[in-house]
Amino acid sequence: MQEISRIKLWSIGGGKGGIGKSIFTLGLGICLSRLGKKVILIDADLGGANLHTLMGVHYPPVTLEDFLLKKVERLEDLIIPTEVEGIGLICGADDVLGAANPTFAQKIRLLKQMEGLNAHFVLLDLGAGTSFNFLDFFNYSPGKIILATNQATALQNAYGFIKSALYRQLSRQFSRNGEMLELLFQMGGKPEDGLPQSIRELLTSLRDDFPEEYAQVVRVMAYMRVWLVVNMVKNTRDGNCARIIQEVCRDFLSLKIDILGHLPYDAAVEAAINNTNPLLLTQKRGIAMAALQGIAAKIMKESRLPRTAWVTEEELMDQKELPAPSEEVAYPGYYFW
Ligand SMILES: Nc1ncnc2c1ncn2[C@@H]1O[C@H](COP(=O)(O)OP(=O)(O)OP(=O)(O)O)[C@@H](O)[C@H]1O
Ligand SMILES: [Mg+2]
Repeated sequence: MQEISRIKLWSIGGGKGGIGKSIFTLGLGICLSRLGKKVILIDADLGGANLHTLMGVHYPPVTLEDFLLKKVERLEDLIIPTEVEGIGLICGADDVLGAANPTFAQKIRLLKQMEGLNAHFVLLDLGAGTSFNFLDFFNYSPGKIILATNQATALQNAYGFIKSALYRQLSRQFSRNGEMLELLFQMGGKPEDGLPQSIRELLTSLRDDFPEEYAQVVRVMAYMRVWLVVNMVKNTRDGNCARIIQEVCRDFLSLKIDILGHLPYDAAVEAAINNTNPLLLTQKRGIAMAALQGIAAKIMKESRLPRTAWVTEEELMDQKELPAPSEEVAYPGYYFW
């Protein structure tokens, strides 16, 4: 029987700072609320929380810190109503999660409570970087969105985030299997030492002699579904750079990345931020918001579908799933993968 599950919890990550993760989270929340959905935004950027500022909340009365330090008992008591109808906000706190240093099990309990909040959608705005906390939040969320811009460093960090998330997931899977952990940590080492250079090579080396581990890796990979958004797009070439991430994820990680859409560069976004007024985003039906409305519709559709395996074992072992890069997107000089 198929597992019927609406995707309610979505994480928005991307590795690099300043690429629009918070704007995207806020804009998506607004668009989903326009479609009649109840949305809770959670600022999980625990080093530099600022989603509340974007929402026009200058002095958050309660934050995640109050919950993590057990000053507030229930997560739902942290929800602040916002000026945008249908959107509630849970504010982030400075690096309290890092200071509290929660165990993996504690993080999962927190995430379960987040997912259990009374709303149609819960959107988690992750901060920059690839800390274990962000990777665990991302991996737990059935909805995984990665943001990038056309800049080489943003593409590099987006790929780095996806790779770190996948490796984190695999190392959790094999946390009691020292040999597999060693193999994972050595991946990408010297090919002349016989070390696997990609997930496909890892799978090939496991298939015959370690069928159980092979099946476990296949299962992790099959459910690792990542949606990509390119932000601040100024021309077709910028938009196409999503394909670069698709290509490298396919070649090195055997991951099939889905493109959720792209957001054009829009001066109206900057104006809304500088006025710390989210209503400007809702009122000005600018080009970025129009694109976000399309993305929200796609997310509504995806979230209704049963959550099943996203790739098959055959696809994992077959490199021809995606077409070869066209000249237009084959950016020269990207050698950092
Ligand atoms: N589509 C867009 N059009 C124009 N400007 C944009 C767009 N998206 C983001 N920006 C600009 O980028 C800036 C950074 O956005 P945002 O704060 O959402 O980034 P972030 O990825 O959340 O950063 P951090 O990692 O520091 O939290 C915004 O202040 C805004 O000026
Ligand atoms: Mg942010």
